[in-house]
This record gives sequence, C-alpha cells and structure tokens, in this order.
Amino acid sequence: METPELIRRKRDGLVLTRAEIFDFVERYTRGEIPDYQTSALLMAIYFRGMDRRETADLTEAMLRSGRVLDFSALPQAKVDKHSTGGVGDKTSLIIAPAAAACGVLVPMISGRGLGHTGGTLDKLEAIPGFSPRLSYQEFHRVLEVCGLALGAATEEFAPADRKLYALRDVTATVESIPLITGSIMSKKLAEGIDGLVLDVKTGTGAFMQKLENARALATSLVNTGTAHGKRVHALITDMSQPLGNAVGNALEVIESVETLKGRGPRDLVELCRELTAHMLVLGKVTDSLDDARARYDSAIASGAAMERLARVVAEQGGNSRALEDYSLLPQAQFEDSIVAPEDGYIAGLEARVMGVASMILGAGRERSDATIDPAVGLVFEKKVGDAVCAGERVCVLYSNDRSRVPVALDMIRKAIAISPDPVSPPPLVLERILHAEGAVTMAE
Ligand code: URA
Repeated sequence: METPELIRRKRDGLVLTRAEIFDFVERYTRGEIPDYQTSALLMAIYFRGMDRRETADLTEAMLRSGRVLDFSALPQAKVDKHSTGGVGDKTSLIIAPAAAACGVLVPMISGRGLGHTGGTLDKLEAIPGFSPRLSYQEFHRVLEVCGLALGAATEEFAPADRKLYALRDVTATVESIPLITGSIMSKKLAEGIDGLVLDVKTGTGAFMQKLENARALATSLVNTGTAHGKRVHALITDMSQPLGNAVGNALEVIESVETLKGRGPRDLVELCRELTAHMLVLGKVTDSLDDARARYDSAIASGAAMERLARVVAEQGGNSRALEDYSLLPQAQFEDSIVAPEDGYIAGLEARVMGVASMILGAGRERSDATIDPAVGLVFEKKVGDAVCAGERVCVLYSNDRSRVPVALDMIRKAIAISPDPVSPPPLVLERILHAEGAVTMAE
C-alpha cells in the first residue's frame, strides 16, 4: 500500500492490518519512508488510537526490528521489572538482586535518566568501574553466575523505537498510549523474558500524572504483554513525592545498599517488597503474594540479596568495596540545608520540582547528550506525613557547583508544603492490574 493511503486510513479512524503495520515499521526503520510521512501517521495514531490487536502488532513489528535475547538455555523463569520513571526511583538496584536471591533470573536492561526523572544506568555507573556495556555472551554469563545481569540498551534493541521515539519527541506525539506501549514493550520483550512487572507511576513527578491515564497505560501494557504470551502484572504507584529519601546517583546507590542491608526508608522498602513479590509470583517461585513478601524479607534479613548485588557489581567490573565503604563513591564538596520555617506536618514535597532541582544541581540531564555529576543531589530527612518543628532539617542539597545552588534551594523551598494539621502519607500502591481482558483491576 502507498504510504499516503496508509496515513489516510488511520486519519479516517480505520483499523490497520498486521501486514500494513509490519510493512510500515520495516520500511521506516530501513529509511524508506521519510519523516514527514511518518510524522503524519504518528499524529493520526495519536488522535485515532489503535485497538488492542494493532498495538500488539506494532509492538511485535518494533521488537522484530532488532535483536531478541534468548536465555532459554537457562532453566529458571526470567522476570524483569520496568518503571515508567520517577524521582528517587532506585527500586531496580534493590529488587533485581532480591528477586535473584529468591530464585528468578533477572535480565535487566535499563536506560539513562532524562529531565526530572532518573535512570538506573546513571545510578549504577556511580559505582566506580561498573560497566553495563556487556556483549550478549558476557550478559548471559553474568546472568547465569549471579542470577541477574544489569545491561544497557544498545543500538541492537528495537532500533525502530529509537527512530520513532526521536520523531515523536519533536512532533508532540509522545503522549499516545499505543505508541508508548509499543515503545516500552518492544524493548522489554527483547530481553527474552517470561514475565514482567510494570511499575506505572502516577502523580506530579510521573509521566502519567492522572490516575485514569496511568490506568489506561497499565492496561494497555498488560494486554500487550499477554498478547505476546508473557505473564505481566502492573502496579500503579504514587509519584507525588520522591520515592525514598535520596535523589541523585551516588546518593541513591547508598540508599539502595542500606535498603538491601535492612535499613531502608519505609516507602522504598514497601514498594520493593511489593514489586519483588509480584516478580516471584510471575516467576512461579510461589503462587501466594504473602509468601513472596516473606521470601523478600528473608532475602534481605539473611544478606542474600545484598550478596547478589555485590557479586553482580564485581562481575561487571565495579568496585564492590564501595558498597561497604561509601567514601569510595563520588563525593560532593558542599552541603546546604533547608529547614522547616514553622511547626507542623509535611503536606507535600512536589516530586517533579524536586527532580528538576536535582537536575539543576547536575544529577540529571536536560538533554540526552548532557553529562551528569554522580555525586550531587538531595536527601530528604522528612517525608509527607512527618511532623516537623521550626528550624528542623527537611532536605539537604549536595553540590559541587555553587552557582547552581541558589536556584535549586529556592525551587525546593517553594515545593515543600507544611500543614498545621496532621497529614496521612499518600498510599503507595494505588491499584494492581493483574490480567488482560479489559484488565482486572484491584483497588487497594
Ligand atoms: N518510555 C519509553 O520507553 N517510551 C515512551 O514512549 C515513553 C516512555
């Protein structure tokens, strides 16, 4: 079919066939369809949407544009977790070793942070010597030896997504559920997994700020994974305040290690336990979420989860002594404190603003080609619901470049809300979507 006819059909709200979708993705990836026609098709998809079958076909076409890893020689179930991104979201560093210690294999391929959100690769690379750039053979070996491997998405994975995402970014077509679904799931399915837990964030720091949009995305992701024969669960979780206390790469590594040693902050511990429990159920280690939660707790208490992280760090070239002696991690030169101006209760720590402030300090990147400073960031000593007295510390800024501090201080001060009345912390897991077919949703 001629490309203008394909665009016309979607523009008029018709359903594209599998052959049409595959033909389009293959020709666009090979450079045979120009960006101006693809932009028009993306905008038509943005307005007209795609049904469940079209979305699954789009995902498959994008997946097949590149390499699909195969770990079928390893007998255990392969299960990963994907988060739609947030501020202070370091769960991957905790749940990948925890799930591995509980008996599933975790072939985790991660990306870098952009804008106000952080990325797992940036956090891992704060560990001196650690390299996520592994060949397929190395990745396979590390997975077999450690039960987890922590790699970087390379050009080989879903190259169609790389091209399409860059075009969506400049044509205001990122916020389309079928396009986001194809983008996320093509990369995750390329990992050769049997199961996937999705952490779909909602709240001011999330990609999907409104619960209804997060639910629609979670449903589409679960449906698409299921259509590809995978076991997929989605949790919709709060991102109205940073997760845990630390935001910034080396600071988040420290908090992750502390969590693996049983000393993590309440919200981070709770989310890691929930996500790991779903991974264990999807990996058929157990069919009970309660039993899976208990297994997570045992893996932390026994040190088995921490031992897995130390092992994978060492296998991937990192200095695992830095996980014991934090002075071996990058250090910031300066500390500035923000204190509560009055007595009361923390009513809000606006996640997006905190992420932007941390980016301004150098922990994140505004553009994908910017460099970051692994040492800098924020540590919150109070979270939503905590009581504070006037003059008590709420947040510490760690910086290396003094010129960036005043703007960040000002933003953070304005993003802290204090109420004279007691405030309940926000619920962390808002909904669970455990099955496809119109998505069975379990409200908490
Ligand atoms: N994350 C992705 O990987 N793709 C999208 O389209 C949006 C978020």
